[in-house]
Amino acid sequence: MNELVTEIRHPLVQHKLTLMRSKDTPTDNFRRLLREISQMLAYEVTRDLPIELVKIETPITTIDAPTISGKKLCVISVLRAGNGILDGMLDLLPNARVGHIGLYRDPETLEPVEYYFKVPEDIAERLVIVVDPMLATGNSAAAAITRLKLRGATTIKFVCLLAAPEGIKVMNAAHPDVPVITASIDDHLNEHGYIVPGLGDAGDRLFGTK
Ligand code: URA
Repeated sequence: MNELVTEIRHPLVQHKLTLMRSKDTPTDNFRRLLREISQMLAYEVTRDLPIELVKIETPITTIDAPTISGKKLCVISVLRAGNGILDGMLDLLPNARVGHIGLYRDPETLEPVEYYFKVPEDIAERLVIVVDPMLATGNSAAAAITRLKLRGATTIKFVCLLAAPEGIKVMNAAHPDVPVITASIDDHLNEHGYIVPGLGDAGDRLFGTK
């Protein structure tokens, strides 16, 4: 296993992912399951946040109790399917700032084309969590992270639901400083750039557009 990539093998994540993969799972269930898995991905991506002790009074006594310190968070959704992960992330990280990057894949070249970019002004001071359900060719994710670095982001993690080995390779080569957290490393990409076995088009399944 590549040390830049964490695959969450938790049974709850795997079970919910199986339900999401099934072509018979309707939009409302798909959306709910993605939100639930994203909460668990949020738990994993924040695992090493620094802690400091603060003095508090419980009804019984005074203690030095742990609280999160260090950089504030920012979640960047790669449109449009990233919004499905964003909701679950914000359930656990309600104070995080949010940015959006709009990229679509040119169907011929499979290269990313940017059409929207709006991120918090103080992104350089934040831990940036980039979310996109499908790390397929890796081109969009790598391009999004390059743009964020140009805007000043220095501490970045990438969270996806499924990753293809091809996409991981592209991401690791382009951004060896960016850890990848995923619920599954799938088998391969097909000739249309879809992850196999995958779950189809994440955006269409999330928003019911097909
Ligand atoms: N994007 C998707 O939505 N699905 C894939 O399998 C690959 C990219």
